[in-house]
Amino acid sequence: MPRRRTRDRSGLAPRVTVEVRRTAAGTDAAADRDFVQALGRRTVMSSVGSLRHATEPAAETAFERLCEIVAGQSHVTLIAHQEGERLGFLLLLDELPDEVTLMDQGFIAYMAVEPKWQGTGVGTALLAAGEDEARRRGLPFMALMVTEENDAARRLYERAGYRTERRLLCKPL
Ligand SMILES: CC(C)(COP(=O)(O)OP(=O)(O)OC[C@H]1O[C@@H](n2cnc3c(N)ncnc32)[C@H](O)[C@@H]1OP(=O)(O)O)[C@@H](O)C(=O)NCCC(=O)NCCS
Repeated sequence: MPRRRTRDRSGLAPRVTVEVRRTAAGTDAAADRDFVQALGRRTVMSSVGSLRHATEPAAETAFERLCEIVAGQSHVTLIAHQEGERLGFLLLLDELPDEVTLMDQGFIAYMAVEPKWQGTGVGTALLAAGEDEARRRGLPFMALMVTEENDAARRLYERAGYRTERRLLCKPL
């Protein structure tokens, strides 16, 4: 059972002891890949906005496609874990410059935390670890896209210092 403690809003140190590691080739790599696929498929509907009435199967297929695109590029997969249990992941693209300025940046293709572990600091820990990976590569910015109605994700990013740079507009025709 996950170790949950009472909600303490005094600080954002994770309420659970969580470690973040990169996926390594070999031993756990296949299990990591399965974990990312399964959790991504289960959570991807949080990224579907209200303007487009996407079905769950369509969103799951889109997530699988995203994984293929990420796998075909330079990237890092981070896995948050505790006592052998995988709690969440972050997919970081590290060679995708900003399309407008061509400035180097890290780009978070997707991140997710197991629903039963959400709200315990796992997402915050993953994001911090992703930023550390980007800094280690000398990348001066981190960027990502987030759906307007995804309040939990927007709060996480805003709390971590992310600001809106551009807007993706959509109109039903
Ligand atoms: C978005 C997502 C990754 C956030 O992950 P998370 O692990 O729940 O994030 P955290 O636990 O670090 O933060 C969530 C909440 O817990 C609170 N929290 C975390 N650690 C805490 C601590 N030590 N003490 C008190 N509160 C804490 C945060 O303040 C935050 O509260 P709020 O959002 O209600 O203001 C997660 O909701 C998720 O997987 N969503 C589905 C997939 C998704 O939408 N991905 C983003 C795609 S862009």
